[in-house]
Amino acid sequence: MKAAVLNEQPGGLDIEDVVIDNPGPGEVLLRVMGAGLCHSDLHYMEGIFRSKLPAVLGHESAGIVEAIGEGVSYCKPGDHVICCLSIFCGQCKQCLSGHPYRCSNPAATSRPKGAPSRLRRHDGTPIDQFARLGGFAEMMLVHQNALVKVTNDMPLDRAALIGCGITTGMGAVFRTAKVPPGASVCVIGAGGIGLAAIQAARIAGAVQVIVVDVSDEKLEVARQLGGTHVVNASKVDNVVEAVKELSDGGVEYSFEAIGLKATAEQAFNMLGVGGTATVIGMVPPKQVLEIRGIDLLAEKKLQGSMMGSNQFRTDMPAMVSMYLDGRLKLDEMVSARLSLEEINEGYAAMKRGEVTRQVITFD
Ligand SMILES: NC(=O)c1ccc[n+]([C@@H]2O[C@H](COP(=O)([O-])OP(=O)(O)OC[C@H]3O[C@@H](n4cnc5c(N)ncnc54)[C@H](O)[C@@H]3O)[C@@H](O)[C@H]2O)c1
Ligand SMILES: [Zn+2]
Ligand SMILES: [Zn+2]
Repeated sequence: MKAAVLNEQPGGLDIEDVVIDNPGPGEVLLRVMGAGLCHSDLHYMEGIFRSKLPAVLGHESAGIVEAIGEGVSYCKPGDHVICCLSIFCGQCKQCLSGHPYRCSNPAATSRPKGAPSRLRRHDGTPIDQFARLGGFAEMMLVHQNALVKVTNDMPLDRAALIGCGITTGMGAVFRTAKVPPGASVCVIGAGGIGLAAIQAARIAGAVQVIVVDVSDEKLEVARQLGGTHVVNASKVDNVVEAVKELSDGGVEYSFEAIGLKATAEQAFNMLGVGGTATVIGMVPPKQVLEIRGIDLLAEKKLQGSMMGSNQFRTDMPAMVSMYLDGRLKLDEMVSARLSLEEINEGYAAMKRGEVTRQVITFD
């Protein structure tokens, strides 16, 4: 099968013909129908985060079950599914205390040490699956606990976006920060993740959703999806002051959806008394963030969010319902459909900041 392989860091993706194994115990083989381009893969292509190599990147996918391995009880061939990298064992303390996205026992949902790799080259060289998914490929072989079934009337190219970006952005609002009705919110970064957070803030009943980005086109999409005010960071002297002015001294909830020191610090500094800043963006591993200690006396909080603190087997079907009833806008978020061969151009366009979400389709 065809797959997009990262062979060096930094580096682009090579389209290669690779071998995918048959499903082993607990595993499911899927035909991929949609694979979204998330900025996280780009961080690995740029070498800002380290990855095992060679690796098939991609972690925002939806598809149709082709075959199941021994002991798979959750799904059957023909089922439509979304993948999620928050693969849960269901038995560790994190899973059992309501935090399956923080599962501490990945060995329980991986092949045993020494077993053949799920993906390999024709010469036998093992190929890693990024996030134990490897979604930039025609087929995927994953553990059944990486999947959620969805109704057949959900278009699978848009279902793919729920696999990471939508769940991450909406989950940060609903689950990590728990934004209540009536809140004032600011979202910094209106890419795939930020637009999902903006939509969740609208659905949660936030009265003010200020959006900060450097692109007027992104800010226009953000307005259509729920932004009530926009700030172009490249056109104001001081983003924090601009947001404070719009929000009567500071917002109650801020979300950073880029992954930079400057914008993560802006998210904290734009809070009003008692406010909570949630950093969703992947800040480089060695980057230190600075905040003023005195702000803690004003009960301002800075927190992270991993995959929207999701419980994806229940959250994703709810997001599908919100798409089907018109509340969650996904059609408007897809700025391009690409073939697998066009993936490097897609990432170049993301780097230039030209696109909202792009999705690879396989027809
Ligand atoms: N925490 C998690 O679990 C998780 C999950 C998925 C993605 N992420 C991370 O979220 C971040 C966003 O991902 P994405 O796919 O939405 O990226 P994206 O590239 O689609 O969007 C980033 C947006 O930020 C804007 N931007 C860039 N610099 C800016 C600045 N200085 N001020 C204001 N706006 C600026 C860009 O114009 C763009 O609209 C990435 O760091 C990604 O790795 C985290
Ligand atoms: Zn992602
Ligand atoms: Zn677990």
